[in-house]
Amino acid sequence: AVLTGHLAPQLSGLERAGALAGSAILARRSTVATSQEGGAVVPDTVQVEYRARTGIHSRADYERMYRHSVDDPAGFWGDIAAGFVWERRWAPDHFSYNLDLQSGRVSTRIFAGGRTNIAFNCLDRHVEAGRGSQPCFLWEGNDVGQERKMTYGEVLQEVCRVANWLKSVGVRKGDAVAIYLPLICELPIAMLACTRLGAVHSVVFAGFSADSLAQRCIDCRSRVIITASGGMRGSKRVELKQIVDAAAKVAAEKGHKIHKALVVEHPAAPRGKCPWARGRDVWYGDAVPAQQATCQVEWVDAEDPLFLLYTSGSTGNPKGVVHSTGGYMVGAATTAKYCFDLQPGDVYWCTADCGWITGHTYLAYGPLLNAATNVIYEGVPLHPQPDRMWQIVEKCKVRTLYTAPTLIRALEAQGDTWVKKHDRSSLRVLGSVGEPINPRAWRWLFEVVGERRCPVIDTWWQTETGTVMISPLPGAWPESPGSATLPFFGVVPVLVNDKGKELHGATEGILCIKQTWPAAIRTIKGDHKRFEQTYFSTFKGLYFTGDGCRRDDRGYYTITGRVDDVINVSGHRVGTAEVEAALAAHGACVEAAVVGVEHKIKGQGIYAYVALAQDEEPSEATRKSLIAAVRQHIGAFAAPDVIHWAPGLPKTRSGKIMRRILRKIAVNADSELGDVSTLADPSVVQAIISMRVTQL
Ligand code: WTA
Repeated sequence: AVLTGHLAPQLSGLERAGALAGSAILARRSTVATSQEGGAVVPDTVQVEYRARTGIHSRADYERMYRHSVDDPAGFWGDIAAGFVWERRWAPDHFSYNLDLQSGRVSTRIFAGGRTNIAFNCLDRHVEAGRGSQPCFLWEGNDVGQERKMTYGEVLQEVCRVANWLKSVGVRKGDAVAIYLPLICELPIAMLACTRLGAVHSVVFAGFSADSLAQRCIDCRSRVIITASGGMRGSKRVELKQIVDAAAKVAAEKGHKIHKALVVEHPAAPRGKCPWARGRDVWYGDAVPAQQATCQVEWVDAEDPLFLLYTSGSTGNPKGVVHSTGGYMVGAATTAKYCFDLQPGDVYWCTADCGWITGHTYLAYGPLLNAATNVIYEGVPLHPQPDRMWQIVEKCKVRTLYTAPTLIRALEAQGDTWVKKHDRSSLRVLGSVGEPINPRAWRWLFEVVGERRCPVIDTWWQTETGTVMISPLPGAWPESPGSATLPFFGVVPVLVNDKGKELHGATEGILCIKQTWPAAIRTIKGDHKRFEQTYFSTFKGLYFTGDGCRRDDRGYYTITGRVDDVINVSGHRVGTAEVEAALAAHGACVEAAVVGVEHKIKGQGIYAYVALAQDEEPSEATRKSLIAAVRQHIGAFAAPDVIHWAPGLPKTRSGKIMRRILRKIAVNADSELGDVSTLADPSVVQAIISMRVTQL
């Protein structure tokens, strides 16, 4: 039985936390944000609107709530969690963690002892509160005119049907289910169907190759996959089902069998044209509508895994990041509410794909937990014309638009006329995520798209952090182009030097996190040691983010980029080691080294140095086939922008590749190479320079 919160007004805990701040603030009403260092400030009239909604009227309000969240995390998060439905309440001492490897196993436990279900909180809770007929998804297809509207009531029923089908093929609590779908309503529906049963979803972005998909299915032992017959990205067809078939074959060769594939029929690949494995493949349209439209939820422990999401690091294979149920749920809802000023019924659009963490937290879970109306767009931003996004904003009356710098730059490059053609008066909040946003793109977003009316919320976070960690709150304090500003509730950032010494005041260093937070990564699937090594062995007692960061005298944090060998291409994380392994697997390549370089649209591009085998020609054909190898092993988004033929790689005498030198050569900074005398063969540097190409 449902014991707590069932009849409590929606998000009462959140409201309580807000009211807490609100009461003390009336006196400070006159606080008007001032422009600092070229910072942009939205008009006071707009700020008042935000403040009335979030209850945070100034930085002082925020500081008060922030202190509470950090000093008494159990109480702070407990108050908020009370606004959700729990089958069993958490224990009084529910918040515990250890981030210090030397004191034992690294762990985080939040809402321990509590039992809940996130699908119930995303859907049933709202339907029971009378929101059944409110639009949940406003879907826009790749082509103009393709659209679908689903209410909360309809989504709930569809989720139940898919959950019943999953049960019928033997999926149980704790099982992993792979999802490989284009951005259609069935994608978040499939995710929610899994969580309804306590099954763990593993969404694989539909741009990953068969090899990558196979590797992920094998790693988490998923025997069921939910996919589609095909997809459309602009004018390009994506042969999803063929990729799934190839992945199943690769997996089978490695001893892992995919038992069932549930296939959504996509207009891009109708029935007759889709390859089929009898006995394994099932059409969604045949199997799902026949299922019952109700399905009892499986209540799970707060610390039971909710989902797995693979992400790249600087070494080795992708890691299956494991997120928890209770902490993630409360964290996703709270960050979505405060960072985007999100209220029930608001039209909200996150342009990320569910294949990445942003799509998990801020397309699927966060907005649904807040009963928002979600725009979902299947296609690419410039299709069929560069005003597609603005047309959708106008049509759906989007209030919040959450997107990525790479997209903003691509749209800016098309000129302002495309934007101005469409009414954007519905817009109130603009969000950015995935990579540092350059001030020029920031200003364009603020001035042209948002007409100087909408705060720009530059959110810093990671797959591992689960939810936004550093971000402005709309209207609460002045923003600064390119800065994520201040930590969210419960987040304690610290900057350290390379020895791990904590730095204070205005300074620059490596960004780490000191205390745990609700949506923190709990482990890496099947490898807790790797989890501890990757994130907690660099600096004692601290979560290591891999990012460099500056803090100014206002306390604002500005992320400067990765300090490890991870490249951020169009906001997608690509591990250098994975690209190097894909190149090295090609017969023509003896050795490869990959570095990131600045790219006008993508933020970073991939620059690969390749040493060829003796009898190989550095020809155009070889270049193409090396790039094809990366597409095949990882996916098209990881394809190198430049292949630089190298007679050898610059290595230290102990065999370590000196990437510092390769980064400089890639950007023609030959005069800044520094000391090369420690190289095993210093002459290789000149040889590499002499073979420079310009393809970027
Ligand atoms: C980068 C995406 C600067 C950062 C949610 C981080 C950012 C990595 C920002 C995580 C931002 C993300 N400003 N850099 N606002 N947001 N990053 O796991 O390097 O795909 O470590 O998560 O993206 O990428 P991931």
